Amino acid sequence: FPVERIRNFSIIAHIDHGKSTLADRLLELTGTISKGGHEAQMLDRLQVERERGITVKAQTATLVYNYQGNDYLLNLIDTPGHVDFSFEVSRSLAACQGVILLVDANQGVQAQTVANFFLAFSQNLAIVPVMNKIDLKNADPESVAIQMKNVFEFEPKNILRISAKTGLNVDAVLQSIVERIPPPKHCNINKPFRALLFDSWYDRYRGVIAVIAVIDGIIRNGDAISAKHTGKSYEIKDLGILQPNEVSLSCLQAGQVGYVVCNMRSSNEAKVGDTLFKKGLTNVEEVASFRQSKPMVFAGVYPMDQSETAALRSALDKLTLNDSSVTVAKESSAALGQGWRLGFLGLLHMEVFNQRLEQEYGAEVIVTVPSVPYKSELLGEKNIKLYGARDIIVNNPAQFPDISIIEQFFEPMVLGTIITPDVYFGPIMSLALDRRGVQIDSKNIDNSRIMMQFRFPLNEIAVDFYDALKSLSSGYASFDYEEDGFQESDIVKLNLMLNGEIVEELCTVVHVSKARKYGKEICLRLAETIPRQMFQVAIQAVIGGKVVARENVAALRKDVTAKCYGGDISRKMKLLKRQAEGKKRMKSIANIEIPRETFIKVLKR
Ligand code: GTP
Repeated sequence: FPVERIRNFSIIAHIDHGKSTLADRLLELTGTISKGGHEAQMLDRLQVERERGITVKAQTATLVYNYQGNDYLLNLIDTPGHVDFSFEVSRSLAACQGVILLVDANQGVQAQTVANFFLAFSQNLAIVPVMNKIDLKNADPESVAIQMKNVFEFEPKNILRISAKTGLNVDAVLQSIVERIPPPKHCNINKPFRALLFDSWYDRYRGVIAVIAVIDGIIRNGDAISAKHTGKSYEIKDLGILQPNEVSLSCLQAGQVGYVVCNMRSSNEAKVGDTLFKKGLTNVEEVASFRQSKPMVFAGVYPMDQSETAALRSALDKLTLNDSSVTVAKESSAALGQGWRLGFLGLLHMEVFNQRLEQEYGAEVIVTVPSVPYKSELLGEKNIKLYGARDIIVNNPAQFPDISIIEQFFEPMVLGTIITPDVYFGPIMSLALDRRGVQIDSKNIDNSRIMMQFRFPLNEIAVDFYDALKSLSSGYASFDYEEDGFQESDIVKLNLMLNGEIVEELCTVVHVSKARKYGKEICLRLAETIPRQMFQVAIQAVIGGKVVARENVAALRKDVTAKCYGGDISRKMKLLKRQAEGKKRMKSIANIEIPRETFIKVLKR
């Protein structure tokens, strides 16, 4: 295939606007897969993807399309559906020259439509606007066209109107891909081999499968290649195109997208965004600037039962093999035992990962309340020397530095976009302000919908913001966010004490304005869950030596057999035995016997 007859494109859309359905139709229409001969959506392979209706792992397919008598090679590059994965989205886009921007004709432009549009727009890609689901009875194509004009400046006459479900007008999408998206640029088949690695996964039998966009030259089986970022070299064992299953070929050439199997041992070696090139070349120009993904949300993960620690460990190993953007560090806690602290790109990433952990490996886990990384600027040259840097990043509240050595704290910020019917403007505004949001912008996108933008501390949206937003808008508001740097902030460490002793796993970092309220809440929750002891238990929330909240659990003389079972000796023995077993599971902190369940109840989100 000459490069002029290749098109590399992605479909980008808000969740549920029909991306997978359209991808399926394109595959069918070009005869890549047979009609209806495959279960549901081919491109969504993982169970969690099907259940949640979102795409986690990018998957790619090559289609052959005949346009005006010529065959064209269309490479559909599937992107993940959520901007939590904007890192993955932008790396997939780096392999494209254009995108199909899909908008549901009933729901209209949503928060992720906006976020995805700007990712593509900022990478100078050709954008083909497509309105989907026009077969729906309550579709409102005219209003949606107005929204697309107001938000993205698309001329209504250029917007394709299709139904991916019935197949209506889908052929026009294929034509537009050829007509409106340019062929790969700056490709040269006469130069030595060079390619962008933009996705990979681990196959149990074949090892790492890396997906590449070839920029220069030709690659064949047996060729020796090197990776720019890792500096390692490999031999090509197999290569070919994805349809979407692997189809072996003898070579891949400039402009093409396909897979290679070489002797990479783990996904960690297949660095997404890395440049592969003919071994021995020097001064190789990188195809895309390489950026390491950076976790923004952290949570402790512990086995429900300590005897399952080894099983959880092996599940984590396997899952991170396929998702190297998750960071894993060992962590142990007096109350919860041995566990791990995981770092995720964002909130949805965390949820999807935990769900996969449970579904694919049957792991029963305790996930602690998520925390965000804080930056601390150290005070004085002595401390800077001691830590080796002026700024330190703290991912775990337990490691929060003492205020006496800190000049200033910074917290991570996000830019949040909310799109909602305008009747919910008031309540959403109150919610945003309560979460320390600062309004940046708000505008009507048609006569009944409004787009609002806020700058939020990530910490404030990390726990239940999305649920709160959904519930106060009866499910109609959509939300998305992107990272927006760090901001100076008055944050404090809130220590939790039981009878004067600090319980590390219950300590958190909060904004000073919320410390008292949060302290009260957690003291109350503890008071309700800690079983009564033989002595009084004082629960205190303390900031820098000052008590901001306090609850007591009154003393109790505990005799489980006293009341009703006085007569029956075997029953009495059984109960006493059960009580003894219960005690074994308790952790003693400050001489207070606390069942694991208490921590689980208090720590779980
Ligand atoms: P994510 O993977 O979560 O981003 O979702 P998606 O964008 O891939 O959406 P998907 O293709 O899974 O479609 C979501 C729902 O919309 C499914 O129930 C589809 O059957 C339905 N759907 C997709 N296209 C159409 C259409 O043209 N008309 C109608 N009526 N329903 C459609």
